[in-house]
Amino acid sequence: MKTPVLEALQRLKEENSVSFHMPGHKGKNTLISWGDYIPYIDTTEVTGMDNLLEPRGIIQESQENAAKVFGAKATYYGVNGSTGNNYIALATITKPGDKILVQRNCHKSIYNGMILNRLKPVYLFPEYNENYNMITGVYPEDIDRKLREEPDIKAVVLTYPNYYGVCSDIKAIADIVHKHNKVLMVDEAHGPHMTFSDEAPISALKAGADIVIHSTHKTLPSFTQTSLLHVGSDRIDLNKLRDRYQLFTTTSPSYLFTLSNEIAVAYMDSQEGREKLAWNIKKTKEVIQRLNTIDRVKVFTGDPTDKTIFSKDIGKILISIDGMKGSQIKKKLLSDYNIRLEMSDYYYALAYISPMNTEEDYDRLVAAIEDIAIKTPYEEINYLSIEMPEPKIKMSPAQAYYSHKMQVELKDAIGRVAAAPVIPYPPGVPLIHAGEEFTKEIYDYILLLMENDLEVVGLMGKEKDHIIVVE
Ligand SMILES: Cc1ncc(COP(=O)(O)O)c(C=O)c1O
Repeated sequence: MKTPVLEALQRLKEENSVSFHMPGHKGKNTLISWGDYIPYIDTTEVTGMDNLLEPRGIIQESQENAAKVFGAKATYYGVNGSTGNNYIALATITKPGDKILVQRNCHKSIYNGMILNRLKPVYLFPEYNENYNMITGVYPEDIDRKLREEPDIKAVVLTYPNYYGVCSDIKAIADIVHKHNKVLMVDEAHGPHMTFSDEAPISALKAGADIVIHSTHKTLPSFTQTSLLHVGSDRIDLNKLRDRYQLFTTTSPSYLFTLSNEIAVAYMDSQEGREKLAWNIKKTKEVIQRLNTIDRVKVFTGDPTDKTIFSKDIGKILISIDGMKGSQIKKKLLSDYNIRLEMSDYYYALAYISPMNTEEDYDRLVAAIEDIAIKTPYEEINYLSIEMPEPKIKMSPAQAYYSHKMQVELKDAIGRVAAAPVIPYPPGVPLIHAGEEFTKEIYDYILLLMENDLEVVGLMGKEKDHIIVVE
């Protein structure tokens, strides 16, 4: 048998590119040299070890240590990313049929979690900043109003920070949610590092969130799929959580991932880890300053006039070059400079930082961006609003998802109810989800995205011109 995966990974290794993308370990070791351990750490619940599903020994101790580091009441190691943790958390704070207030630009794992848990969403729309062409955060007052209007909402589910590092006023939000006696769940997949620096935006746990999800692999030195689920308050039923944890977790949890979670947290709690993060934050500030002095180049750091950008995590460097699309910047960085970014959209190219980035990484990034800005001819960019049309909810996501479905051409879908999401990448936010009406506005929007070469996931057929609808 041929081994195409192995061959591709070997090519990737030889390429030795600069990593401004996940995973946060950036190919480097921290407390241990993984190569020495890998053959034998892939073990299971043999005598002397512990069981992640019902920890009573070393894993329990390790999770308790991690909880102390994060200031949580309890911490659970996840082995299926924030995706799995979002399923568990949603199932813990609700029961089937419950209504939740959820940020519309949440990750698809929250949407899938709503299907799995048969939840009814009430959407909270993030603002759109026209000056910077960016989806930002939410107003605490909007949450207050929604909770007053619909007192049967059981919980509020927010994403903080978003992919771009934009943070809403989470402390004010936590106070409002608790004033209404509701539970606040925060998908902080992109923010586990924030606990370890006073210069980063406040962590959701510190702000008072009840349940918080982290992708350890995103901004900390940890393997892909590693994640943390933290409990911040007594509003969370720990027995129910443990039960739901078992529902959504493999019965053969990986010791590789379990150890990677432990090591990442221990490293970040160590002097070296904290110093590395502090150095990277300092360096990032300097890099942003340098980039901003280059003609045509701008780095987004916030907008004081926009109250939905309460703070900005600078660990996500959002670069734009006048007269170039973000996607062109990302492509050029890879093809001509061997630098890989996390993602790009129409306007921005995103360099995703972790404590493992080095001086050389940053210097190469600045030099490459300067070179690109000098050499790439200015091209008029069609400014395209990436603000999404409002959804028209016809049934719950689960009802649509589990109904009889059919595939129809986009133009024939107008007026029908979608049975699956359509998600433009970036920003990775569903444009339409199961249970919502496919309108002419959405149809036009999809055509616009395709004309501009943006990736749209959820379109079916060879020509990518079909979607799945309720029969
Ligand atoms: C906001 C958010 N939440 C959750 C996830 C899922 O995280 P994971 O890849 O760890 O499953 C992502 C993935 O990118 C994300 O962006």
